[in-house]
Amino acid sequence: MKGSALLVLLGLAGCEDVQKANAPVVAAVEGPTFYQDILPLVGENCQQCHNSTLPMGAAFPLETYEQIAAFAPVLLSKMNPVGDTTDPFFMPPFNAKDGAECSPPHAFRGTYAVEQSEYDLFAEWIDNGKAKGDPSTLEPFTVPPMVDLEGSITALEFAADYNVPPPAEAGYDTFRCFALQTEDGLVAPPVDLWIDGFQFRPGNPLIAHHMLVFSVPDLNEHLAAGLVEDPETNSWACDGAVSRADGSYIVRDFSLVWGWVPGGLPLDLQWNMGMRLRANTGLVIQMHYNTLAEPDDLVDRSQLEMRVRDTPPEREAIFTLVGVFNSFGTDEVDDPPFEIPLGASEHVESYTEPHQRGDMRLWGFGAHMHYAGTSLDLRLLNDDAETCLLNVPRYDYNWQQMYTYEADWEDLPQIRNGDSLRVKCTYDNTEGNVMLQKYLGGPVVGGMRLGDGTSDEMCIVGLGLACDGMCEETEAPPSPRP
Ligand code: HEC
Repeated sequence: MKGSALLVLLGLAGCEDVQKANAPVVAAVEGPTFYQDILPLVGENCQQCHNSTLPMGAAFPLETYEQIAAFAPVLLSKMNPVGDTTDPFFMPPFNAKDGAECSPPHAFRGTYAVEQSEYDLFAEWIDNGKAKGDPSTLEPFTVPPMVDLEGSITALEFAADYNVPPPAEAGYDTFRCFALQTEDGLVAPPVDLWIDGFQFRPGNPLIAHHMLVFSVPDLNEHLAAGLVEDPETNSWACDGAVSRADGSYIVRDFSLVWGWVPGGLPLDLQWNMGMRLRANTGLVIQMHYNTLAEPDDLVDRSQLEMRVRDTPPEREAIFTLVGVFNSFGTDEVDDPPFEIPLGASEHVESYTEPHQRGDMRLWGFGAHMHYAGTSLDLRLLNDDAETCLLNVPRYDYNWQQMYTYEADWEDLPQIRNGDSLRVKCTYDNTEGNVMLQKYLGGPVVGGMRLGDGTSDEMCIVGLGLACDGMCEETEAPPSPRP
């Protein structure tokens, strides 16, 4: 809703004209009103998630005068037009920014950011006594589409409800893999398929740290050969990827397809891209349950919805991870070892990786660290230039979305063999870190290391790559989990 303050001014000027013409008018209200200004503002910036029909997570509805007026000062305090407040829970949550040090080549898609003029208008409305105004003056507005993917959707889910071990019993975070099936019980369809949209529905968001989808060739054979521990849910305790955690069954061939982390939004692939799912390849979802919350309900039955087509798209898309996580050594960072000392407030770790998959374009970027992470940037390095691709100056664990550019295919950054990607992460392991305080109850005693647990750390970017046409087969090792 750009320039709404201007609209108000024009509106008032218009009113005078109307009065001059002696037309019947509703008593003019000074300043912004709910119907004319505030509802459209909240509609376009907040209702995408804050609605009663399909709310995102714990977002409460912001649809009526009562709902909005009652919380107006709180709503205002969370709006952050400039992005430099110290409150990590600002709204709407969009953490990729264009900054002096790092300016990505294109604007990001769907920022739903509140502008300064909108912020000022909302503040003025509160100061003036939150006038309701006249419903007939309601400015038309559009709520940006949110959760539902359109098109032919295949829903996959666990075979049955899974009872997550209580945190106290589990001791450490739980990693569990589930072979996904459709309503017809289909695990690995016998034909090649293409996926161009994903949407996760975590069954128990309070304890879901991530959901990762892996493709596993000949999954049915693995299931028949004893991969599964619990036949009712078709699930097993898993290791770095999809093998059994106790080492009693190893799956060697698998790849990461897509993932969800808190704040993750549905993925609707642009640029006529699709991800390939080969015939007889099944999907396994790896759930990471954290031990931070003690919810009353420990049952989970998460869902993955995909938009699937049987004809190849124009371009093949791939999702992969760049950075360091559990399976890396602490010495694989640029300036080893990886360790965030207790009391360090601006500790930096970085990792540089050469690209070896051939000519591709980069279309998406998602930052992933845990609660000590405060900022992250990703750069593309080649012979003559350094391009900043993603800048997240104030990282928020609860809002880890995949950022994509607003650009034509031809303008997406290219990456070639010999180029490198460098991901740089900054951490705060002090009592001043609000997120650490809130979730872990304080800094992590004795420094933090690379690891899987929510109280360990990582430095990762989930990266969207694509080939113009189909990608050539590479020897790239399959990606393990973050
Ligand atoms: C992309 C989705 C999304 C958008 C857009 C969004 N919110 Fe939220 N908001 C949420 C979710 C989800 C929560 C619950 C967060 C939680 O419990 O951690 C939330 C929580 C809040 C809270 C409570 C915060 C707290 O500290 O407990 C306020 C206030 C709020 N939103 C205001 C707004 C306003 C005002 C807008 C628009 C200017 C907005 N939100 C836009 C998803 C969104």
